[in-house]
Amino acid sequence: MTPPPPPPESSASSTRRRVLTGDTPTGRLHLGHWVGSVANRVAMQDEYDCFFLIANMHAFTTRADKPGEIRESTIEIVKDWLSAGVDPERSTFVLQTEVPAIAELSWFFSMLIPFNRVMRNPTLKTEIDTKGLGDTYPFGFPMYTVGQCADILAFRPDWVPVGEDQVAHIELCREVARKFDVTYCGVNSKAEDEDFEKEGGVFPIPRALVGKVGRLVGTDGTNKMSKSLNNAIFLSDTPKQVKKKIGQMYPGQSREPTEPGNVEINPVFGYADTFIEDEAQVAELKDRYRKGDNLGDGHVKAAVIEAVNELLDPMRERRAALEGPEGDAKAVEILKAGTARANEVAEETLAMAKEAMGLGFWGRRITSD
Ligand code: TRP
Repeated sequence: MTPPPPPPESSASSTRRRVLTGDTPTGRLHLGHWVGSVANRVAMQDEYDCFFLIANMHAFTTRADKPGEIRESTIEIVKDWLSAGVDPERSTFVLQTEVPAIAELSWFFSMLIPFNRVMRNPTLKTEIDTKGLGDTYPFGFPMYTVGQCADILAFRPDWVPVGEDQVAHIELCREVARKFDVTYCGVNSKAEDEDFEKEGGVFPIPRALVGKVGRLVGTDGTNKMSKSLNNAIFLSDTPKQVKKKIGQMYPGQSREPTEPGNVEINPVFGYADTFIEDEAQVAELKDRYRKGDNLGDGHVKAAVIEAVNELLDPMRERRAALEGPEGDAKAVEILKAGTARANEVAEETLAMAKEAMGLGFWGRRITSD
């Protein structure tokens, strides 16, 4: 998997630089999330101070009438993270709705970005299309993109590990950070991105870190892997489900094992590249497939199924320990502990931002019991 970038030189000090990213609890995580972002999160835990956020407020932008599902999905995603190897001893799990600073920063940030700029965001436009929202979406739907800037900037991170579809959101966040620092902290608008904090800005200009495969194709072989398109392999799928889903993939052509095949149009080879670690094995499969060297599609699929299951097996094991109401309670406990720590950082950021905006009247303390 993608190695994390080396920490910047400034990390010579004992404080680790920060990472923030998050997931909206509208369903379980799948292989697209893994290769785009989750693998990077797992890899960055030691070098960086990592914050992983459940964006449950954002889930309400499209499913305000389904609070039960959002709650369930919140717990499921925490379990997905734990199963994937995110370690609550090293990383901080954050529940968005219990971090008031995020909602407050969202208001301030919404004043720094033109309405039309928000509406031009290509990811937002795609979502409106694919989710069939037409012109009936709530006011809060486009607002989530500004909220996402606050999710990120509340933690003043250097890196935001995300899949390719999120890069447009990170760009908006970078614009907001620059605008804030220039408007309220006297940073020169021509300053280099790396220098914004040094020049007195409250916010660093965070960068997106896209994983090994930024956009994983779904089992339909064409669209991006996504729960709503019914083409996803979930991290929590059983070996049998994985076998069935990959087994049913259309290899892009109809051929006999002895006829030459086209690797380029066969999405199963895309998965082979992504999930089979042994490059020599992949090269051999491709070579034989191209030659029509008695290599059936079933053979390629079997190799991919094995590789995917090898990746998911340890996740299944960890998930088994989180089953039932006890597992749910454990997930909530982890969120609560992490969110307490997150509030310390986010409150500090908000206080710094307010100070810069001439709003530093008196302090406050957030507690939970
Ligand atoms: N919008 C992201 C998604 O749908 C989830 C998200 C919310 C996020 N807040 C974030 C991602 C902050 C990165 C940083 O996947």
